[in-house]
Amino acid sequence: MFKDQVEKLWEQGKNENSSELPRLFFDTINIRLRERLSESEFIMNFKDYGAGTIHSSLEGRILKNTEDFQIEEVSIADLSRRISVKGAFARFLFLLVKELKPKKALELGAGFGISGALILSALRAGNTYGHLLTFEGCPYLANEAEENFSLFSKGSFDIVEGKFLDTLGSTLQVHDKIDFVFIDGHNNPEMRCQYIETILPFLNDGAIVLMRAIKWKKPEKGIDMELSWIKIQEMKEFSTLLDEKNFGVLVYNKNSS
Ligand SMILES: C[S@@+](CC[C@H](N)C(=O)[O-])C[C@H]1O[C@@H](n2cnc3c(N)ncnc32)[C@H](O)[C@@H]1O
Repeated sequence: MFKDQVEKLWEQGKNENSSELPRLFFDTINIRLRERLSESEFIMNFKDYGAGTIHSSLEGRILKNTEDFQIEEVSIADLSRRISVKGAFARFLFLLVKELKPKKALELGAGFGISGALILSALRAGNTYGHLLTFEGCPYLANEAEENFSLFSKGSFDIVEGKFLDTLGSTLQVHDKIDFVFIDGHNNPEMRCQYIETILPFLNDGAIVLMRAIKWKKPEKGIDMELSWIKIQEMKEFSTLLDEKNFGVLVYNKNSS
């Protein structure tokens, strides 16, 4: 995939009424699944191994705080709005996967399964039968994502529950090589670089890596995600295809490694 193709898909993603979006596939997830979550009145315990979420003003009551994770009491409606892909970015994700037709897609951070359902749906819209392997640390969310994939998008998937650090390397050993990666969890620059190093040997030539929150900062916790974005772009194996305010796209070139 080339830079101009990815730029064109991003332009199409910005257009809500893009004729490139097959409504049957896209709206099922984007409207029906999103509505189901935003209308939910349930309160859940969010076990968060990450660095907190981007819209921290909505944070709920903290029930437990350890060095490794925190448990926060939140409403499903609030949390789904807070963490799930939406708008132009959600459309871009869908269009990118539909065009790329990956046989194996990897996602770090399943959340409620909105992005995963979009990936699965885009695979079907592109008439491909790729497999989605997605990782999620919060047990409640891993269950939700599984249910939402089954209800809102058909397709082949595996959800691995647990902390990325404990599950990623060993799981990748027993799966086919990867054509598409979406990193959407754990906004910590050192850990993001570590996940990329772990994933690198399992990438097919030409694999596309999409990352969210590449420039996110939380100064009170000393977090500056741009540090990892710069470092990863400098790796000889990667070329940058898109560098936007809150997400970036890279391509993996095997011969450069
Ligand atoms: C932004 S949300 C993902 C949203 C999802 N991609 C979507 O758009 O529908 C990030 C997710 O990553 C998970 N997460 C963050 N850090 C993690 C870690 N170190 N290990 C496992 N899961 C983690 C969180 O529990 C959260 O559900």
